[in-house]
Amino acid sequence: MTANLKSEICNRKLVVLLSGHGSNLQAILDACASGELGAQVVAVISNKPDAFGLERARRANVPAVVKAKSKTQDRRAYDTELADLVAAYQPDCVVLAGWMRVLTMAFLQRFPNRVVNLHPALPGTFPGTHAIERAFEAYQRGEIRHTGVMVHLVPDEGVDCGPVLAQEVVPIHADDTLSAVETRIHVVEHRLLVETLKKLSANLANYFGGSQL
Ligand code: GAR
Repeated sequence: MTANLKSEICNRKLVVLLSGHGSNLQAILDACASGELGAQVVAVISNKPDAFGLERARRANVPAVVKAKSKTQDRRAYDTELADLVAAYQPDCVVLAGWMRVLTMAFLQRFPNRVVNLHPALPGTFPGTHAIERAFEAYQRGEIRHTGVMVHLVPDEGVDCGPVLAQEVVPIHADDTLSAVETRIHVVEHRLLVETLKKLSANLANYFGGSQL
């Protein structure tokens, strides 16, 4: 690897969008700090002012920005403003780590092949909110034998679907509580998201086109 290419990979800029607790943001921040992930989080943006993920960003000296949507604002108008905000940080990749809004093309067309979403279920299963809880209930009804985690690109307005970058089965056991399944899922999420971002960062030509936005 040439020195230039190595430094380009290490300088990959991530903007993380989140709505809540931010444990996956923390996994990314920790991996960047340890050098495991050759990237830096240049901004964390939340639609929820009280999201704990914002506090995690502040503690890591990363800009923490609230971009709330008013009830009367049109979704596309909000997404255009959100895209302007994100673009100002010139990200190589926009990571949806517990971002609980469906993004319209007004946002997505600005970052083609650069928006990555994490979802706590396998491809094609349990899209939307409360995926772990719904999988747990489906297991109890005998409809599924395991669940999983996936990381995928977000090309359009489909909910929790798009080209899959990584997926991993997570078992559910007969004596599990919902809380036990949630914990097992989150452990896998934290690892799989970082592993996937590592692969994306290294695979410049296929994913990021080798340049910033
Ligand atoms: C994660 O489980 C993530 O997969 C999920 O939100 C949680 C955020 O946790 N995302 C979705 O359900 C997207 N449909 P965190 O705030 O602790 O990272």
